Amino acid sequence: MVRLTSLVKTSGCAAKLSPKDLERVLSEIPIMESDDLLEGFEHSDDALVYDMRDGRVLIETVDFFPPMVDDPFTFGQIAAANALSDIYAMGAEPVLAMNLMCFPHCLDLSVMKEIILGGMSKVREAGAVIAGGHTISDREPKYGLSVTGFSKKEDVWYNRGLRTGDKLILTKKIGVGIINTANKVDEADEESVREAVESMTTLNKMARDNARTLSVHAATDVTGFSLLGHLREMAKASEKTVVLHYDWVPQIQGALELARFGFLPEGAYNNRDFIAPDVDFSPKVKREEEDILFDPQTSGGLLLALSAEDADEFLKRMRGTPAAIVGEVSEPDDKLIKVIR
Ligand code: CO
Ligand code: CO
Repeated sequence: MVRLTSLVKTSGCAAKLSPKDLERVLSEIPIMESDDLLEGFEHSDDALVYDMRDGRVLIETVDFFPPMVDDPFTFGQIAAANALSDIYAMGAEPVLAMNLMCFPHCLDLSVMKEIILGGMSKVREAGAVIAGGHTISDREPKYGLSVTGFSKKEDVWYNRGLRTGDKLILTKKIGVGIINTANKVDEADEESVREAVESMTTLNKMARDNARTLSVHAATDVTGFSLLGHLREMAKASEKTVVLHYDWVPQIQGALELARFGFLPEGAYNNRDFIAPDVDFSPKVKREEEDILFDPQTSGGLLLALSAEDADEFLKRMRGTPAAIVGEVSEPDDKLIKVIR
């Protein structure tokens, strides 16, 4: 049996192009304007939002990456949960999905079948439907989905809209990039891997459903650009400063220790490089603690901005999950993010 992760250099959202390189390319491409395109890529939001002119908007996203686990069915589940998440991060409901697959000649076709079945199981759990897609031959396997969702125009959550005094809630633990990196060389313990896989295969549906009836001021999901990277996008788009309390951030057990030993995905270095100039770290936060905040997440949690009252109500509804308040929004300061403890 070929280990899926042995076929790839980087895995999951850690395989994302560095934010610096992406920004450089995008800055040189003219933005196509359309009156109906309510969200393009100017604000680095999670998905495109297109006005249907009947009170509804269409929300569209696509995501695919190389495997971060060896089991093909689990890989399919993770890739699908990750792709569906961008629709939940807009406050919407996924309706329709298509497969995207890159697959090596050397692998048995039963592996491809398992990946697709894993993806399908998550699409079904989301209450959406999957059909068709596109497959090409490639040296490294890669899998993901394009996903379409719909929402009432006034119900969409954007990543801008933070208000001073808002509480910031993260609905999943961080550290999966570090665990996956260590696991590739069999250095992560079984319990940490189990926790990471459980987190990555969990849909953000429950979080979205529980927040939908509350007043969400801004939302995104935490993926390849790390907790700090996605917080930075929110702060920047909202012209606010966010204060992150390091000790409040839920973490996968063992991730911090592995970070101390240097099991950091390449994406964590790229993220630090790009984001650190906008972050003011308290001297009480150690280097490896900073590292975990730059760790690229695969299928990470939702990051939601709510009033203090709604944040309490949301946490009540999310009892039994890792959801926690991790910070709050303040008036704009010299840096976009402050990390305190
Ligand atoms: Co996203
Ligand atoms: Co995405």
